[in-house]
Amino acid sequence: MRRLVAETSLEPRHLVLPLFVADGIDEPRPIASMPGVVQHTRDSLRRAAADAVAAGVGGLMLFGVPREQDKDATGSIGWVEDGILNVALRDLAADLGDATVLMADTCLDEFTDHGHCGVLDAHGRVDNDATNELYVKLAVAQAESGAHVVSPSGMMDGQVAAIRDGLDAAGHTDTAILAYAAKYASGFYGPFREAVGSSLRGDRRTYQQDPANGREALREVELDIDEGADIVMVKPAMAYLDVVRAVADVSPVPVAAYQVSGEYAMISAAAANGWIDLRTVALETLTSIRRAGADIVLTYWAAQAAHWLA
Ligand code: PBG
Repeated sequence: MRRLVAETSLEPRHLVLPLFVADGIDEPRPIASMPGVVQHTRDSLRRAAADAVAAGVGGLMLFGVPREQDKDATGSIGWVEDGILNVALRDLAADLGDATVLMADTCLDEFTDHGHCGVLDAHGRVDNDATNELYVKLAVAQAESGAHVVSPSGMMDGQVAAIRDGLDAAGHTDTAILAYAAKYASGFYGPFREAVGSSLRGDRRTYQQDPANGREALREVELDIDEGADIVMVKPAMAYLDVVRAVADVSPVPVAAYQVSGEYAMISAAAANGWIDLRTVALETLTSIRRAGADIVLTYWAAQAAHWLA
């Protein structure tokens, strides 16, 4: 009876697995604050991706971690052909073809020596328009490396339009854009900064949203859709389910939500203490995010959950 009347479904195809690939390491490197998640080598990435795809996940979201000495003020290692993210995209595109949707994070924070999502002006502030030009370089390099979807996550104004124009001009008219449309300046990204070896000092409050604001999310979503976003995302997920619901109620394009590193860390830590049951709680949270209206959920449990759901 429960199965017959359940309103919300959670299937592997709804889930996207974020993966980290690092340059200059010989062994996968564990991320202490995210038990079970690692920075991959090129080889271990290929195995993890193949496993996730075999388990039925809907997509993969790739983040690149360059060597410290390759970071610079503009993040140029992000768009050069032998940058780790582009190399890994080519590996996965060759291995997986159209068996999954291959997505790439289109942002500078992993690649800059100051750790901000954009380039800085003479006053040390993030320069919105100069940053958009670099996002175009990133997006074109990622599309050329085999990404089906580019994912601007830096919250610059006009980033989606700039990327759409740049991709089209380079002939990548079929490359889709997943826009981090409503991305909050959140404490829940803490473990991610370890995951990508971020150099950030300070915070992102000048370009990410204030957790106090809900209506602003709808405005951001509307702008991104006008600019050509194919999927819009709300991030983080669990503390923003009202925002997910509000966006899902009005969005004419699919809605994604990102269950971020801190959400994963929090639940993993409680489970490791024996205080909650990992599988029950992980699946409950994913179901809740779907119930709130997300078509797609990015989660570090994607492959694991796909196995649980099999
Ligand atoms: C920026 C980016 C971040 C995350 C995804 N893309 C970090 C930030 O905005 O500070 C966070 C993901 C997570 O915490 O799991 N490229």
